[in-house]
Amino acid sequence: MCGIVGYTGPKQCVQTLLSGLGKLEYRGYDSAGVAVLDGGRIAIRKSVGKIARLRDLVAREPVSGTCGVGHTRWATHGRPSDTNAHPHQAGAVAVVHNGIVENHRTLKKRLQDRGCRFISETDTEVISHLLEGHVASGLSLEEAVRSAVGEMKGSYAFLAVSEKEPGRIVGVRLNCPMVLGLGEGEVHLASDLPPLLSHTRNALFLEDGEMVVAEADGSVRLTDFLGTPRELRPRYIDWSPMMAEKGGYRHFMLKEIHEQPRAILDTLAGTTIPESGELFFETLPLAESAIKGLRKVLLIACGTSWHAALVGKFMIEGLARLPVEVDLGSEYRYRNPVVETGTMCIAISQSGETADTLAGLREARSKGAVTVSVCNVVSSTIARESDGVVYTRAGLEIGVASTKAFTTQLVALYLLALHLAKKRGELTSEAVACHLLEIADVVRRIEGILSRGEEIEDLARRFMDARDFLFLGRGVSYPIALEGALKLKEISYIHAEGYPAGEMKHGPIALIDEWMPVLVLCSKGESYEKTLSNLEEARSRGGRVIAIGTEGDLELAEKAEEVFSLPECGQYARPIVEVVPLQLLAYYMAVLKGTDVDQPRNLAKSVTVE
Ligand code: M6R
Repeated sequence: MCGIVGYTGPKQCVQTLLSGLGKLEYRGYDSAGVAVLDGGRIAIRKSVGKIARLRDLVAREPVSGTCGVGHTRWATHGRPSDTNAHPHQAGAVAVVHNGIVENHRTLKKRLQDRGCRFISETDTEVISHLLEGHVASGLSLEEAVRSAVGEMKGSYAFLAVSEKEPGRIVGVRLNCPMVLGLGEGEVHLASDLPPLLSHTRNALFLEDGEMVVAEADGSVRLTDFLGTPRELRPRYIDWSPMMAEKGGYRHFMLKEIHEQPRAILDTLAGTTIPESGELFFETLPLAESAIKGLRKVLLIACGTSWHAALVGKFMIEGLARLPVEVDLGSEYRYRNPVVETGTMCIAISQSGETADTLAGLREARSKGAVTVSVCNVVSSTIARESDGVVYTRAGLEIGVASTKAFTTQLVALYLLALHLAKKRGELTSEAVACHLLEIADVVRRIEGILSRGEEIEDLARRFMDARDFLFLGRGVSYPIALEGALKLKEISYIHAEGYPAGEMKHGPIALIDEWMPVLVLCSKGESYEKTLSNLEEARSRGGRVIAIGTEGDLELAEKAEEVFSLPECGQYARPIVEVVPLQLLAYYMAVLKGTDVDQPRNLAKSVTVE
């Protein structure tokens, strides 16, 4: 939540900051601002609304300077307004901040008693006043930041500049991400990689409790909060800057839906030899004996990643024959869970920064679980804090509605389930090879669906006026019903519920009438007959039934008002394919309704608050 950027070096920085903020807009878009050190003075431009409004403001009231910081906000403390927009300046110091200062009320009271005047409703303003107080008493900016973090409680990443130290940016990280781009004689700082990619691929991820001092000549010093030097550990990032462009698509979401075949192939590459049924997980250092000793798997995630976890349960239980529990990060950590000996906790997260998932992972680890993560962002916090990691290779995902991250998570979980099954002696190499062929086939099937976009657009046109939608599925398709409903809700703002098809008769059936479209996932498979009966129940209450079914299913064609047919798939490959028409349906509904597809209201891509 919230994105911060910084630049110091030889170049004019305003456009770099604005472009960086544009690439972080997925983290929040309530307001935006920049602070630039201009001839020993801090010049601030900030505005409520998206970056476009800030751009207009900067065009009308230009600023110049070669050192500056910027911010795009997802409001937590204080409504979106010009005054609450960052940067926040107190005296000679300006600050941009991501996170929450939990003891801000106590600090504010103390600062007010000393005569500080607060003008915003934000928690961030206490940071700028704390720093200003220390700087005014003669401390350097670095010392002031060190002293301030000793007084602050909470989760934060912030950048500070001072009129007394032109060319210098001081940054800290505690439970909120911050990454440095080490360019030629210049330093870029940001909450995430996209703003850095067009400048440098040498990235340095700050650890919790670290502080950086970046200078105008491109040098950086890293210390802990007490000032003890830390070694610089830059990593080469192989993501291309093109990933941060729309590449001819109208929206990032549509581009990312179309990238799924490539993303799945990349996730498979290097991990599998399909012909021989071999699997390699270089970053999963679990000995065969440890895998054999496992007694339980716990999957923790939020949102779409939680839906992937629900599918993962079927895969791991079905293939590796291990009991699996699935929990939401935000629930798991607060219920004093029992962690039995032999538990492996798998945290699933696209960003690798989701606060609730991270907290759940830490809780499980503190109680003795072996931890593994399924992450898309290399070196993200969740990946770094896990004993092992399986990377999805979806590439940069910018659309707030997660698509390619989800299908690659399903592939990674399928591979992980096969790995566990093989090591535990539940599957032979030949059986694994059959499953790998099934996964490879998913790519062709998804390509087939993507070429039928117009069919789904027509469907969307026919149902775009619905105010409510019900998505039904059984077994491995139930999480896909949940995911279809979530996609529709978050980008088209149509109320939608996902429900296990067999549970409909225990309540939601009361909602069904001719105004309620019911989308039923009714492919040929384990629970086909039963789902077909549920479909009939919906139809006989007047519901308008859309079915996602299997090619050649004439019976289904007779029963549903609309059918979108898919090729027949194995049980665990099916959800990976079934979700694609639902992503497209949500996308086209949103486009037809004219919503902001890539940046839906009230949401942020990476949820780093609890
Ligand atoms: O980065 P993560 O996978 O941990 O994010 C979890 C959720 O915030 C995320 O999946 C969210 O639900 C998406 N907006 C769904 O499209």
